Amino acid sequence: MSTSERARRHLVPHFTSYTAWESEQLPVLVRGEGAWVWDENGTRYLDGLSGLFCVNLGHGRSDLAAVAAKQMETLAFASTWGYAHPPAVEAAELIASLAPGDLDRVFFVNSGAEAVESALKLARTFHLANGEPQRTKVIAREWAYHGVTLGGLAATGVPKVREPYAPMLGDFVLRAPNTHDRGLAGAADIEALILDAGPENVSLVLAEPVQNGGGALVPPDGYWQQLRAICDRYGVLLCADEVINAYGRLGHWFASSRFGIVPDLITFAKGVTSAYVPLGGVIARGQVLDTIAASPSRTFVHGATFGSHPVATAVAVANLEAMRDEHVLDNVLSREAGLRASLTGLAAAHRCVRDVRGTGFFYALELADNGHELTDEQHAALRGGLLGRWIREARLLIRPDDRGATMLVVAPPLISDDGVLDELVTGLDQVLDRTDDWLSTGP
Ligand SMILES: Cc1ncc(COP(=O)(O)O)c(C=O)c1O
Repeated sequence: MSTSERARRHLVPHFTSYTAWESEQLPVLVRGEGAWVWDENGTRYLDGLSGLFCVNLGHGRSDLAAVAAKQMETLAFASTWGYAHPPAVEAAELIASLAPGDLDRVFFVNSGAEAVESALKLARTFHLANGEPQRTKVIAREWAYHGVTLGGLAATGVPKVREPYAPMLGDFVLRAPNTHDRGLAGAADIEALILDAGPENVSLVLAEPVQNGGGALVPPDGYWQQLRAICDRYGVLLCADEVINAYGRLGHWFASSRFGIVPDLITFAKGVTSAYVPLGGVIARGQVLDTIAASPSRTFVHGATFGSHPVATAVAVANLEAMRDEHVLDNVLSREAGLRASLTGLAAAHRCVRDVRGTGFFYALELADNGHELTDEQHAALRGGLLGRWIREARLLIRPDDRGATMLVVAPPLISDDGVLDELVTGLDQVLDRTDDWLSTGP
């Protein structure tokens, strides 16, 4: 029996329609090296999305594997419930040294969604400790993705992902427009929401510096400075959800640094270990934890068995040191303009591309038909299999996205050189040629 048949019998996929899961073309990936992965038939694909925005250092690093193996032999498990252990301490120290401003306390979990859950609870615990128990409202933006655990999902603004579970979601989230819809005025919209709710009731503003949902939405100049000033004005905490943005995706350790602001909390996951093992977390300003430590309970009542896992935190240290020693952030900064120019060139050469957005090694190409919105039938056909097939046939792993528009999203590994980026652009060119042909002959 083939691996894909066995997968269909017992393995339940994430966010995958059974039409794709049951297809004969379901790829079974078996190996990776650098920017490439291979399927079981030996076909090579360029990983143009770094897995899911996470394999920042690229695939096949035996040094990271060796660090994991050594840690498993030395101390495979210890929690940070009442104990400490060296890998977690080293990872927290290193992350604190890289984080902007006075963010110097790190709480580890296992994923981005758990990081967001932890940030929601940390903000709440801070306000309780600070004598403001009524601050429970959280502001998050349209089309934002903050994970799918029930707290994260309450903050997530992607209708398709929320709707099945809407009756299970708390009503503590107030929805703000994103910068694609409102530009700089989106900051004033958030202030208006705070005033409307009563500033004394608002706990947290949660937003990605460059938002993925809606297509790599780069904030207008001054937007985050305004958010910072608004949150300061009303005693609201500000959390930058950097699950995608952090650890080099935008050429800086943190997007907050790139945009020149110091939030109160930063959530992270994905690239912290280049996805060699799962790890996520929240970084907080010292004052947040000092306030909790000075409260009667003296406790952040939240945790998980695998939080601060020794293997994951050891790999995080090795990954971040490798990124630093191999000048990976400089690689992104020195090549981002070239990548952007190539993508803009593709847009100019194809009727199907309406807009290119993004920065660093993180872009979205929004599709349209000669500048006109695609029809519902075109959207459905392109997302329902055509784009996926053309992408596969171009030997790429990138994502046809449907959050807010039909888009191609690219986020190559941060170690990509010009050869890799050229291969990515050539593959995209093929996909866009086929999209143009299909649009001009009519679906
Ligand atoms: C900004 C953001 N927050 C949270 C999450 C959830 O992360 P995870 O899938 O690790 O739970 C994601 C996932 O892509 C994300 O992009």
